[in-house]
Amino acid sequence: DDVEIAVVPGDGIGREVTPATVRVLDALDAPLSFSEYEAGDAVADERGTPLPEETVEGVDAADATLFGAAGETAADVILPLREAVGSFANVRPVKAYPGVDALQPETDLVFVRENTEGVYAGIESELAPGVTTCTRVVTDDASRRVAEFAFDYAAERDARVTVAHKANVMRVTDGQFLDSVRAVADDRGAAHDEALMDALAMHLVQRPADYDVVCCPNLAGDMLSDLAAGLVGGLGLLPSANVGGANALFEPVHGTAPDIAGEGVANPAATMLSAALMLEWLGETDAGERVRTAVESVLADGPRTPDLGGEATTADVTAAVLERL
Ligand code: NAI
Ligand code: MG
Repeated sequence: DDVEIAVVPGDGIGREVTPATVRVLDALDAPLSFSEYEAGDAVADERGTPLPEETVEGVDAADATLFGAAGETAADVILPLREAVGSFANVRPVKAYPGVDALQPETDLVFVRENTEGVYAGIESELAPGVTTCTRVVTDDASRRVAEFAFDYAAERDARVTVAHKANVMRVTDGQFLDSVRAVADDRGAAHDEALMDALAMHLVQRPADYDVVCCPNLAGDMLSDLAAGLVGGLGLLPSANVGGANALFEPVHGTAPDIAGEGVANPAATMLSAALMLEWLGETDAGERVRTAVESVLADGPRTPDLGGEATTADVTAAVLERL
């Protein structure tokens, strides 16, 4: 039986890089079948909801989902979809590619970001006009399971875990996160490093090669991974995997890029590399390797999109990747 992939292009450049990636997946002759679903600003305008029920059901029923990006409605789309696949860990590999100008060519690390709580739990209120609050949720369960995931991931790669926290200020919530990660490390007798997340931001810029697997609370993982994107050539290169559940959702780290949307020049690499992670997660290891190798070879030799200093279109890059498959 075919593996069922739900495809949710979303808005903006999501509608450009997602179809480009599906063309690459189609060319693999792997046993994959695709169903497309709507989500985001455009469908919200048309139908009054950014996340129609059939999209959630389709994502829930599929073996895996490939997502593009949603615009202003991103939080209303991606948070429920990550939940729909049961994901508790967001994995974001960041590495410099030969041929691509990078501020830090030594960069090769992976963020494992807690994907369900923290300040993204969505508990915000306006107590009075001009007085607002956000409730940060950190539980032992969620912190332990993401830590377990990070230590497993690191063990498979012979890598070291660094935990990002700010427990010196957020004593209760990040204190909990840190305690939970330490408990997991103790159980396993695994060594790990601990880093205050503000200083970590600086060290990542100066010495990214010091880090392998960085286990982060939700917001910190979001911010530090975009920072690290800047070290290797930008958001057009960063894939991500929302994993931990029975099925999983794969998406570029970037958003809808309104500044370039519609011009046909978005870099499809982040989404194609996300698809490679998806194939690996599905057990289609050879197919995943083929996609990754083809994308890396195009990054090395060109053509390249304008974000990487080139003049190529999304279509040019896609054609080159197809040729190298
Ligand atoms: P963004 O990631 O869309 O763009 C940031 C910058 O990176 C822009 O200059 C853009 O042109 C560039 N960029 C991003 N991806 C690129 C690619 N593939 N090729 C070439 N250049 C690329 O972030 P921004 O501007 O903060 O947000 C724009 C919209 O996207 C917002 O409405 C936001 O809510 C949404 N968003 C959605 C996400 C999601 O659906 N998961 C994630 C992040 C933002
Ligand atoms: Mg982000």
